[in-house]
Amino acid sequence: MKETSSKKIAEQLRQILSGHRPERVELIRILQEVEEKFGYLPREAMLEVANFTQIPASAVYGVATFYNRFRFTPLGRHPVKACLGTACHMQGGALVLEALERELEIKVSDITHDGEFSLDRVACIGCCVLAPVVVIGEDIHPRMTPFKVEEVMAKLKETEHQETTDK
Ligand code: FES
Repeated sequence: MKETSSKKIAEQLRQILSGHRPERVELIRILQEVEEKFGYLPREAMLEVANFTQIPASAVYGVATFYNRFRFTPLGRHPVKACLGTACHMQGGALVLEALERELEIKVSDITHDGEFSLDRVACIGCCVLAPVVVIGEDIHPRMTPFKVEEVMAKLKETEHQETTDK
């Protein structure tokens, strides 16, 4: 799991905050930078941002959830992203996403208990002719179906298993 230690978070957060004024108007930009840095919004970081901007922590959390684009859990070693842009949606993207949730036994924005996989839905990633598309790590999987999800995940889990036993 790509969870970041508290010390590292504090250190990197200091760098991020040093580039901002402690004002409410800076909040979204700060949260974006925190997510870019860690891949999600760690709880400690949200509290520190609240402290810095003098905004109650509950309000910072409220803003972050309102925008519906921030993650609150770390990314898995294999981030899985299902595209639900218009083209992918029209071609059955929602069914593909459901299949991923079943296969991984997690919901969107969550991470598997072993930290191997995280699941997110994304807007158009720019290859609509291949819809519906799933991105796993750096790899684009085109024209997905629920059946292909099972195949791809089985292959990936098998590779994972081999890598673990080879160590
Ligand atoms: S809508 Fe999915 S790639 Fe464009």
